[in-house]
Amino acid sequence: MPTLALAVLGRGLVDPAEPVLRADDEALLRGRAAFETTRVYAGKPFRLDEHLARLAASAARIELPEPDLGAFRDLVAAALAGIEDASLRLVWTPGPSEEGDPVGFAIFSEVPDDHEPLRARGMSVVSLPIGVPYELRAKAPWILGGVKSTSYAVNMAATAEAKRRGADDAIFLAADEVVLEGPTTNIWWRCGQTLFTPSLDTGILAGIIRGFVIEAAPALGYEVAEGVYTRSELAAAEEAFTSSSVRELMPAVLLDGAPIGDGRPGPAAAALEQALRRAALEA
Ligand SMILES: Cc1ncc(COP(=O)(O)O)c(C=O)c1O
Repeated sequence: MPTLALAVLGRGLVDPAEPVLRADDEALLRGRAAFETTRVYAGKPFRLDEHLARLAASAARIELPEPDLGAFRDLVAAALAGIEDASLRLVWTPGPSEEGDPVGFAIFSEVPDDHEPLRARGMSVVSLPIGVPYELRAKAPWILGGVKSTSYAVNMAATAEAKRRGADDAIFLAADEVVLEGPTTNIWWRCGQTLFTPSLDTGILAGIIRGFVIEAAPALGYEVAEGVYTRSELAAAEEAFTSSSVRELMPAVLLDGAPIGDGRPGPAAAALEQALRRAALEA
């Protein structure tokens, strides 16, 4: 999506066409950098401090220098002038491997305009196995489960595979069809008044909107169950949806070509979407 603004630590606002990284930056050569994406609502980034904390946690997991979160916060505040609604990406790279300094920057982009039609129709998703036992994802730190690093080529390849199969998005399955998450989302489904989602023990990303859903659900009449669930449990749900910062709550109405529930967007996703918008504007 078109870039609205670019701000770089130590430089401030720069022309989005300006180079920011060297060709020998580790982010580029090895995909070794941390990033975050959040959304700006009415000039305010949603839960920026939680995103900054996760950026620091991802940086630690891939052994990057510690980011100066205060400097990132100031950079975002300075760059926000005049921006109302946007998606905001923060990136922290170690810089060149041999010498040189880390680089941090914030990019503000327009929010894609295809979200609302998709929310009204509901997504078609396909399940894609990755063959790894879920226990390993959480216990083997080198697999980097739950880390937001710029090594997202596998995630993008999964999205591309979903599109090739005529679907909108993918859901990763660990060995034995254990449900994990989407390439850029967490997954949820509802049976009665219970919302189910994979637990963090499966090595998924601790999504900020996942956290929001856990907080907001009880007031909307839903209880949340986190656990280790299989594809067949998702397939048998009454409704399903994904959660993520940019796409928010997005109904998923078809799984591998079969309808989930009645094959239409459901009430929990709609109620949570409204609650998220309210919380974002009240923050
Ligand atoms: C793999 C993965 N899971 C889940 C999410 C959702 O996280 P959040 O709610 O913080 O946007 C993302 C977001 O980019 C992601 O990349």
